[in-house]
Amino acid sequence: MVVIPLPLLSHLRVPASPRPHVFLDNDISTLTCYQWVLGVMINEIEQITQKFSVLDYVPVGFCVLREDFVVLFWNNCLEEWTQIPKTEVVGKNLSTYFTHINQPKYQIRLRQVLANGLPAIFSAQLHQSLIPSTLPNGQQRIQQTTVTAIPNAQGEGFYALIAIQDVTEVTNRIQAYRTELKQRTQIETELKRSNAELEQFAYVASHDLQEPLRMVTSFTKLLGQKYANQLDEQADQIINFAVDGATRMQALINDLLSYSRLNTQKKSFQPTDCQAVLEKALYNLQLLIVENNAKLRQSPLPTVIGDETQLVQLFQNLISNAIKYRSQQTPAIDLGAERQKDKWLFWIRDNGIGINPEQSERIFLIFQRLHTRNQYSGTGIGLAICKKIVENHGGQIWVKSAPGEGSTFYFTLPYLVDRHT
Ligand SMILES: Nc1ncnc2c1ncn2[C@@H]1O[C@H](COP(=O)(O)OP(=O)(O)O)[C@@H](O)[C@H]1O
Ligand SMILES: [Mg+2]
Repeated sequence: MVVIPLPLLSHLRVPASPRPHVFLDNDISTLTCYQWVLGVMINEIEQITQKFSVLDYVPVGFCVLREDFVVLFWNNCLEEWTQIPKTEVVGKNLSTYFTHINQPKYQIRLRQVLANGLPAIFSAQLHQSLIPSTLPNGQQRIQQTTVTAIPNAQGEGFYALIAIQDVTEVTNRIQAYRTELKQRTQIETELKRSNAELEQFAYVASHDLQEPLRMVTSFTKLLGQKYANQLDEQADQIINFAVDGATRMQALINDLLSYSRLNTQKKSFQPTDCQAVLEKALYNLQLLIVENNAKLRQSPLPTVIGDETQLVQLFQNLISNAIKYRSQQTPAIDLGAERQKDKWLFWIRDNGIGINPEQSERIFLIFQRLHTRNQYSGTGIGLAICKKIVENHGGQIWVKSAPGEGSTFYFTLPYLVDRHT
């Protein structure tokens, strides 16, 4: 005689209709009952296999569990991952293969699906899936398991449709990306901190050096005036060198100070009419313009959001360079702006000596010059200031030029975006 294990009988759900008379009959033989149980299960397996056979060919593990954790469907993907053929597992209790699902964390969630029809998710972590994360071939995988309730064959309860997705690559990529992001943020924070420190240092140093330098300059000048022609020629020359050196140092310190002030003394940005900005810059440069008989042609300039003082400085530096680095021809400057989507593109074109394209990035660095002091005066900070101003305003600056063909400086400023820095 075949004895039906009690747990199997207790899990057996009797279809509502037609209710098999065998169960209403106390004389039912255990064998008939067993056959009936098997029959129900085979029937369920057949129905489910037919319904879900399409899921056999997707790269996601699919399985259907009955309320008593008996496997009704096991797709090809799961066969491959677990190396357990469907012919073996279907019809058996899943916990016979994977005992870990008897743990409360799995049981609670599976019951929630099977009893209440609620969905459940097992997060994408190692050792969180319904099937082991270490595959028989030793590979460690990360699986995202989603369990959805589907109505059972009797229409009285639920099966659990389990979808197991291999998310190892995606998770690893996300992890690598997070690590990289964290490192970058750390580097960026460190860079910002050291930049701020450096700027503060440049500001303090240039500010505090001004006073002693003024004394050195004025006393050497005084020395030169007082003892002019009283000492020998060599002494006069030495004093001249000292005055010259101190004056140059003063100019450098002043420029450095105005460069670092761009960061330490930021004002809030306002709508600023670039036409008025240009006029102020031209007013400051009137002597240079007249001396060189420079001609300026311009197209209308827009209103932007910015710091007026800084923008005057920007125009002034670019126009003064356009005149200072003039060729034999009379300086002719062409200046304008055009709208480009979310920004304005400004240009200042000159007919001066031009720049070797290889130097076109270096000239924007602080104290970088392409000429000696004897050829052209200057400290090499003008374009570094321009770059900082443009970047403070959220734009970019660059130059297109060739020796002997004049230069065009371009810079962009955002199109009326209110930026408070
Ligand atoms: N319009 C221009 N035409 C030719 N060369 C230029 C022009 N503007 C700048 N330069 C070159 O770029 C260098 C850096 O310019 P800048 O930073 O203004 O410093 P400075 O004018 O004090 O030398 C200059 O020394 C010069 O060689
Ligand atoms: Mg200059």
